[in-house]
Amino acid sequence: MQFVVASLFVFAVFQEVTHGEEFGYDGNIGPMYWGERYRECAGKHQSPININVLRVKQVTLPELVLVGFDDSIDNVHVTNNGHTVLIEVKNEPHPRVRGGPLDSDYIFSQMHFHWGDNDTFGSEDKINHRSFPMELHMVFYKEEYKSPTEAVKHSDGLTVLAFFYELDRHQHPAYDDITLALQNVTEPHTSVVMSHPFSFLNILPYDLKRYFTYRGSLTTPPCSEVVIWLDFEQPIRLTHEQIEAFREIRSAHGKITHNFRPIQPIGDRVVFYNIDNNYYVYNEIEDHEDTTTVRPSRRKKGRSSGTSLVPSTLSALSVIYALSINL
Ligand SMILES: *[C@@H]1O[C@H](CO)[C@@H](O)[C@H](O)[C@H]1NC(C)=O
Ligand SMILES: *[C@@H]1O[C@H](CO)[C@@H](O)[C@H](O)[C@H]1NC(C)=O
Ligand SMILES: [Zn+2]
Repeated sequence: MQFVVASLFVFAVFQEVTHGEEFGYDGNIGPMYWGERYRECAGKHQSPININVLRVKQVTLPELVLVGFDDSIDNVHVTNNGHTVLIEVKNEPHPRVRGGPLDSDYIFSQMHFHWGDNDTFGSEDKINHRSFPMELHMVFYKEEYKSPTEAVKHSDGLTVLAFFYELDRHQHPAYDDITLALQNVTEPHTSVVMSHPFSFLNILPYDLKRYFTYRGSLTTPPCSEVVIWLDFEQPIRLTHEQIEAFREIRSAHGKITHNFRPIQPIGDRVVFYNIDNNYYVYNEIEDHEDTTTVRPSRRKKGRSSGTSLVPSTLSALSVIYALSINL
């Protein structure tokens, strides 16, 4: 019996060393102190940031191409790494993304979540100082660097597609499998295989054309300044209970009630706001012959509203857009 206890202890110490990520979100391992152990966390182009929509530069970037996002993917792993919940794809080929601000292909590495103690905050980036209860990060590495480990050594190594969550009264059915898996990975360093095939597109909002993009960093140590961020404007809508399930996840120190980094100075950076002009024309004339689609197939139904976060002349067009998708 004593032997078992001793070996468990050794195992725990070993894990701490091999994972090496001695950082947290509170006290003397909290974000304020990351810069002491990880120099890049004190850099000038850090993430997250607040996006002031009055200061963004509107642009029409090339079409964003999402490859494999509507595939039905088997053998998807859900892991509690002690800081967040990771979703990883084991089977090849992995989904990929190109176009938009990206000059070549980026391969899917993992996705994970950031949340807060309650539904009033939890997202990392903010829009006009508004926080959202949760944020999804889909991380991709540049194909030519061959691996995420190599990619973080290059300033254009990673791209993260970031999505905000907001509250809805209706449950989002595509999140049921994730919620179920969460119940089996409440302990740190545990992992399960998702019970059903998983499709990226199903967990995303309807509008993937309007996004903010800027250059920043990883939001956890080592805070490498290697990320091309794309923050999609339209949030994903979940119920309070669906978000609450994430707050049951535990680290070695207890429940992970929050795991978002506070906003960092924007410095000399410019945030671009991608608008596809043709897209609005397409909606206004209600031409259902879709020639501009980024996706091989569109979902026919979706509960997402066309909620706009941008209080400008664009909101009138957003309303037109919202109406047309509900028709
Ligand atoms: C959310 O949490 C913050 C910080 O703990 C607290 O100040 C605030 O009152 C909470 N809000 C709600 C609605 O529970
Ligand atoms: C979680 O565990 C329960 C019971 O142990 C099992 O029935 C269920 O299939 C598991 N879910 C996943 C997603 O692994
Ligand atoms: Zn993240």
